[in-house]
Amino acid sequence: MNFELKSLDLAACAKEKCDALVVLVSEAFQPGKDALSQLVEQARKSGDLDSKPGKLLQMYRPAAAVATRVLLVGAGDGSARQTRQAVAAAVAAVKGPALRKLLISFAGAPAQKAVRAVVQAVADATYVYTTTKSKPEGRVLAQVWLCAPDAAAAQAELALGVATVAGVEMAKEWANRPANHATPTLLGNAAKTLARFPKISCEVLGPKEVAQLGMGSFMSVAQGSKEPLRFIVLHYNGAAKTVAPTVLVGKGITFDTGGISIKPSAEMDEMKFDMCGAASVLGVFRALAELKPATNVVGLIPACENMPDGGAVKPGDVVTSMSGQTIENLNTDAEGRLVLCDALTYAERFKPRAIIDIATLTGACVVALGGVRSGMFASDDSLAAALQAAGESALDPCWRLPLDDEYGEGLKSNFADMANVAGRAGGAITAAKFLQKFTAKMPWAHLDIAGTAWKSGAAKGATGRPVGLLLDYVLNQPSAQIAPAPAATKKIVARKAVAAPAPAAPRKRLAK
Ligand code: BES
Ligand code: MN
Ligand code: ZN
Repeated sequence: MNFELKSLDLAACAKEKCDALVVLVSEAFQPGKDALSQLVEQARKSGDLDSKPGKLLQMYRPAAAVATRVLLVGAGDGSARQTRQAVAAAVAAVKGPALRKLLISFAGAPAQKAVRAVVQAVADATYVYTTTKSKPEGRVLAQVWLCAPDAAAAQAELALGVATVAGVEMAKEWANRPANHATPTLLGNAAKTLARFPKISCEVLGPKEVAQLGMGSFMSVAQGSKEPLRFIVLHYNGAAKTVAPTVLVGKGITFDTGGISIKPSAEMDEMKFDMCGAASVLGVFRALAELKPATNVVGLIPACENMPDGGAVKPGDVVTSMSGQTIENLNTDAEGRLVLCDALTYAERFKPRAIIDIATLTGACVVALGGVRSGMFASDDSLAAALQAAGESALDPCWRLPLDDEYGEGLKSNFADMANVAGRAGGAITAAKFLQKFTAKMPWAHLDIAGTAWKSGAAKGATGRPVGLLLDYVLNQPSAQIAPAPAATKKIVARKAVAAPAPAAPRKRLAK
C-alpha cells in the first residue's frame, strides 16, 4: 500500500480518476465555487450531512466528480482524533475488492496535524491477517493519495505515519499468529530478520546462555514446555556509542496456559496474545528502520511458553533470579513478572537513560482501565509525563497508576525474599511493585497492555498498540533527530509493511 501526499484542492481532486474519493468535512470547511464544494454545502444545508465525526453521505458516480464513489464524511473539529474517526468510518464503508485507489481530501483544512492519524486509520481499516489461511485474500487497496492545498508541509508527518504503520503491522502479524506458528524460536528468527536493516543488530540467546547468566526466574517459567526459551537482544544504533540508550523490554509469553495454576478453558486461545509486549518491541524496531533517528535503543525479549507438565514449576517452588533475589512462586499464572524481572536485571549493563517494559501483565488492569488506555507506572515523574504525552500525541493513550510502597506489602513471603503474587486487590499495581524491586538502579516505567493490545469477540485480533506511543516517546528524545530524506523526494512511498523485510545488507553481529 503506497501513501502519497498531493497538493490538490477539492476542485482538482474531483478531476482525478479513483475508486473512491473521501472528502473530510470539518466544522471549518469553507466551500469553494467548484461543483463538489457546492454539493457539500447543499448536503449540509439540507441536514443530510453534518460535521459530527464519522457521519457519512455516500454517492455513486455523482456528476460532480470523476471518482466512482464519493463519500462526504464529517470530520468534527479537524483534530487528529476526530479525523481518525472520520477516516475509519469512511474506509470501513467503502472497502472491498473494488477499492484499489483511494483519494482522501482534507478539503482546505491544514493537513499537518492529522496526516499521521489518517495514514494509520486507513491501514487499520484495511488490515487483513492471512498467514495461516489456505486461500489468503490480502489487502486490495494499493494506492492512497492524501490531498490538501498545503500537502508539501506534511511530508514529515507522512513519513512518521508510514513508519508507524510498518511497525504496527509487524506487531499485529506476530501477535495474531497462533502459538504454534509463533514459538519462541520463530520469534527469535523474526527479530534476526530485522538485523538486515542498517543500524540494527540482533543476538538470540538459548537455554544454555540464559542459564549461564543466572536467569533462574525466567528459566523456571520455561521449564514446563517442550519449546526451548529464547532471550532476544536487539540494538538500534542511530547515535554515538556514548549516548545512553532507551531500553524496551517486551513480555514474550508465546502461550500462557497458567501452568500448574491452570487457567479456565474459556477464551484461553487468547493467551496466544501474551507476547504482545514482545511484538510491540519488534514493531518499534521495524519503524526505527524506516525513520533512522539519531538515537540508541535496546530491545530485550524474554520468550517462552507457560505450560503445565511433569517438569513444570510448582506452586511453592522458590527460584533465584539473576539479581540474586529469591522468589516464591505462589501462582504459576503470574509468570509474566518472572520472565521480565531477569530481563530488567540484564538491562542494567546498558546504563539506560530509561527502561520501559511492555507487558500483557494482569487481568486486573483490564478491569481497571478497559481497552481504551494502557496502564502506566513509573518510578520517575518526568518519564511518566513523557510517556503520557507520547500516548496523547500518537492517539495511543495510557494512564498513570500509583506505586505507593504500601501496595508492595502483600508480596512478603515466609520462604523467599518475595512472593510472585499478593492478594486480589490492586492486582495491576502489586504486579508493578514486584517489577520495581528489579529496577532500583534505573529510571523505569511499566506499561500494562493487557486491555489494549488485542480485541476480543467478532473483531478478535491484535491492535499493534503501543507501538505508536513508544515510537513517539523514542523520537522525542533530545538526540533523536530524524535523518533528512533525499532532497528530490516529493512523495514518500511506503515500503511494503510485511513481517520479513527485504534483505538490504548482510546481517550484522551484535556489537556489545
Ligand atoms: N497473561 C496474563 C494476564 C492477562 C489475563 C492478560 C487476561 C489479559 C487477559 C497473566 O500472565 C496472568 O495470568 N496474570 C494473572 C495474575 C494473577 C495470578 C496474580 C491474572 O491477571 O489473573
Ligand atoms: Mn499468566
Ligand atoms: Zn501471562
